[in-house]
Amino acid sequence: MSKYRIAWLPGDGIGIEVMDATRIVLDGLELDADYVHGDIGWDFWCGEGDAFPQRTIQLLKEVDAALFGAITSKPVKAAEAELAAKLKGQGLTYRSPIVRMRQQFDLYVCLRPCKAYPGNPLNYKEGIDLVVFRENTEDLYAGVEFHPVPPELAATLGALSKPFAPFGRLAGDEYAVSCKINTKKGSERIVRAAFEFAKKHGRKKVTIVHKANVVRASDGLFLEEARNVAKDFPDIQTDDANVDAIGMWLLKNPFNYDVLVAPNLYGDVISDLCAQMVGGLGFGCSGNIGEKLAVFEPTHGSAPKHAGKQKANPIATILAAKMMLDWLGEKEKAERLATAVAAVIAEGRVRTYDMGGGSTTQDMGRAVAAKLPVSARK
Ligand SMILES: NC(=O)c1ccc[n+]([C@@H]2O[C@H](COP(=O)([O-])OP(=O)(O)OC[C@H]3O[C@@H](n4cnc5c(N)ncnc54)[C@H](O)[C@@H]3O)[C@@H](O)[C@H]2O)c1
Repeated sequence: MSKYRIAWLPGDGIGIEVMDATRIVLDGLELDADYVHGDIGWDFWCGEGDAFPQRTIQLLKEVDAALFGAITSKPVKAAEAELAAKLKGQGLTYRSPIVRMRQQFDLYVCLRPCKAYPGNPLNYKEGIDLVVFRENTEDLYAGVEFHPVPPELAATLGALSKPFAPFGRLAGDEYAVSCKINTKKGSERIVRAAFEFAKKHGRKKVTIVHKANVVRASDGLFLEEARNVAKDFPDIQTDDANVDAIGMWLLKNPFNYDVLVAPNLYGDVISDLCAQMVGGLGFGCSGNIGEKLAVFEPTHGSAPKHAGKQKANPIATILAAKMMLDWLGEKEKAERLATAVAAVIAEGRVRTYDMGGGSTTQDMGRAVAAKLPVSARK
């Protein structure tokens, strides 16, 4: 029996290609693992009415970790239009499987390291090394949404909230309500995870990102909990910034920042910005981490326009595999993988289209595998 059982979830579009290329690297590392395929993505929505079938949920209960490619998501009406004829009109509603997975398995930490590998022609500046902690289960992604707005909700909001008055005069289908729900527990644990990471990895500063001056209830709670957690880490510098301002400051002075922690939506936005500073979506990797399970993925989507063309850069997924190795405690393999990625980027011989080259997805996987340092343990 192998040491690890890894759920292998390629999903849709370029997700399949970048996962195949990553497998070349994992095989090169001789990770002692069984990779068990899991069905997820658009075809399963269209054919079965569920993009995240029960059998895949069961698989995730039985594995040590998962590696996920990407899925295609579409708005509710477009999704319903593509359902198989036999499934139409049954009240099925599309919800992103990755959002469901994060909530169902309480994968509350979204960890997104953004490191500029020297020599990457896409680096905004050499030397950037940021880590984003994004809350992953609540906030505007809680899934509590209404359109049309039911009259009982409108009546309650009208009775409880003065600013609601102008909206309450509208017909229910003339507006929509999405609830931003931040809890004390959810805020506390993501901020604590960010500080623990900073402490463990010798990081100097944690920046709390919010918009508490305007979104006073939910972001106010997040900021208050964050400041309380910060008191437990007196050796780590703490500051906070409004989410709009941090967009500007990160671009202006990226070296003033180190670890950033934010509620779900802001974390999603700033991590894309940080990923762009170190090469764009082909380099952005992500870990969805809970107490029992962790699912690693590139931050990009299925990029339908590139699907099937072997054009996509698999480095984001290869770096997601590095995060998985770290999480499994396979530090030596994780380091060898990072060394190989750094060597391929620095050499500049193999480059996918986004890096200005013509290499294929598979070329990149093979190039990284070829640069893996020989294990000192052999
Ligand atoms: N976690 C996920 O699975 C996830 C994340 C984002 C979007 N999506 C879904 O993916 C689909 C496409 O969304 P989108 O086009 O907005 O975003 P996307 O990330 O799929 O692609 C946007 C663009 O970024 C570039 N890009 C992305 N990945 C790249 C890679 N590995 N190498 C080189 N270039 C790359 C391409 O130019 C691409 O057209 C949608 O259905 C969306 O809902 C899924």
